[in-house]
Amino acid sequence: MARHLVTSALPYINGIKHLGNMVGSMLPADVYARYLRQRGHDVLYICATDEHGTPAELAAAEAGLPVAEFCAGAHETQKKIYAGFGLSFDHFGRSSSTQNAETTQHFARRLHEHGFIEERAIRQVYSPVDGRFLPDRYVEGTCPHCGYDRARGDQCENCTRVLDPTDLIDPRSAISGSTDLEVRETKHLFLLQSKLQAEVEAWIDQNSKDWPLLSTSIARKWLAEGLHDRAITRDLEWGVPVPADTWPELAADGKVFYVWFDAPIEYIGSTQEWADAAPVGEARDWKSWWYEADDVRYTQFMAKDNVPFHTVMFPATQLGVREPWTMVDYVKGFSWLTYYGGKFSTSQKRGVFTDAALEILPADYWRWYLIANAPESDDSSFTWEHFAGTVNKDLADTLGNFVNRVLTFSAKRFGETVPAGGEPGEAEEKLGAEVSRLLAEYEGHLEALQYRKAANSLRALWSAGNAYLVEKEPWKQVKVDPEAAAVSLRTAMNLIRLYAVVSEPFVPQTASTLRGVFTLDDTATWVSPEAATSLDAVPAGTAFTVPPVLFAKISDDDLDAYRERFGGGEV
Ligand code: 2FM
Ligand code: ZN
Repeated sequence: MARHLVTSALPYINGIKHLGNMVGSMLPADVYARYLRQRGHDVLYICATDEHGTPAELAAAEAGLPVAEFCAGAHETQKKIYAGFGLSFDHFGRSSSTQNAETTQHFARRLHEHGFIEERAIRQVYSPVDGRFLPDRYVEGTCPHCGYDRARGDQCENCTRVLDPTDLIDPRSAISGSTDLEVRETKHLFLLQSKLQAEVEAWIDQNSKDWPLLSTSIARKWLAEGLHDRAITRDLEWGVPVPADTWPELAADGKVFYVWFDAPIEYIGSTQEWADAAPVGEARDWKSWWYEADDVRYTQFMAKDNVPFHTVMFPATQLGVREPWTMVDYVKGFSWLTYYGGKFSTSQKRGVFTDAALEILPADYWRWYLIANAPESDDSSFTWEHFAGTVNKDLADTLGNFVNRVLTFSAKRFGETVPAGGEPGEAEEKLGAEVSRLLAEYEGHLEALQYRKAANSLRALWSAGNAYLVEKEPWKQVKVDPEAAAVSLRTAMNLIRLYAVVSEPFVPQTASTLRGVFTLDDTATWVSPEAATSLDAVPAGTAFTVPPVLFAKISDDDLDAYRERFGGGEV
């Protein structure tokens, strides 16, 4: 048993997330956390809303609410949706917590003590019309690198380059749209990342050997471009205040830390929130996960635009504080899920959003489709046609049909207990060997965080059940040899129980329904490939119930309705 810390990139508070956000961070992290827990590991899965910075302020302004009030409501909304998706966070915190503020200020003080923070006077975009400085996303314009005309002042979402508002061509205020912008001087704190370049490089050399290419290539590209000193404070209303004990002048001026400085620290802050929220009598030690925690393996999940911050910038911060904080062991990065080949876009409300997804179908439909088609190396494209095809084939025809067919038929012929019949024969032996092989393959892919491959193995396990039924044809056997039919059905029911256990990381609600089929004192959290060969965990005589149809097929009419509601391929 090992201790596994799992985090998924913190979703911005500024709106409901779309399916691309879900598959690029939270969902794969959940599948992994669930799998590790099932294997008996000590797992802590942490996430939170990312509540600071211009995204939060802009969204609150649009909603006509004070930022604190907007964030409190939006946090609850997101939390409810993620519960609906079955995400098994140990804690879903808020980066606006006091815990995060204190830890962020601590990090800043330590970086300062070690000579990695410097106060500099810089020129910032100022809008006389708005009467304020315009940091980050408060400025929009054309990306100087790729020409994308809706680039934001912090990062271009098209080419992923990190930007400064003053880099943008034809800049305009995101508040008023004013193009009458000037540049004024103001003081800010800078993180001297250039001084940490060699240490980050050595750390990457040492630690990234087994990371996916997507993660290492982005980290290397950033390092090759050279680490630049970066402003880590902003002129904003809402954020972690610069501590007055260390920088009295800046604190008096109302400066707050830049959202990307405090957001990754919230992985720690949220763990502190988790510990502080412990029920009476339960001791939770956040520090044992984060400080001098040599026995912890830390895995992070994120989409590719977040990779530079997690592989270079946050490690630089952690190395610079000169304290033994847990650093990431494995960075699982994802490419984009596209909507008919185009962008899912929060700002343009294009694509399928997580709240709407759950309105039309239960979470397991989405979980299965998204993970089976995860954009692991290349982008993958969501289309309603592909979604319907996957759901109908894998979930309705393969898993659902097998379960309902076996249980309905057996109940009709032998009553609602697992039939006895005779001894298993050659076909059962062959099936056991095949299931065992597929299970070993499935485990291997999950251990290696290879989601598409893991989904293929799980699908093959489900198909093995159908192939067995086709071979044995219990509906024909029963007419000539009821004992033989009983063996087939008992074996098939054992497969159902196996599916209930091992499908849980992907489709937890369905797994729980399948567990409930048998009246069995079944505490197994996993089935080893060795144990799977015998397929005998559910003995004859066990009572069972036939569940309602597990998955409804998506009809052509449904498809038309979805395309009509969400828009089809027009980009
Ligand atoms: O890109 C995003 O959605 C950011 N909110 C991710 C933050 S991850 C972290 F470091 F907190
Ligand atoms: Zn660009």
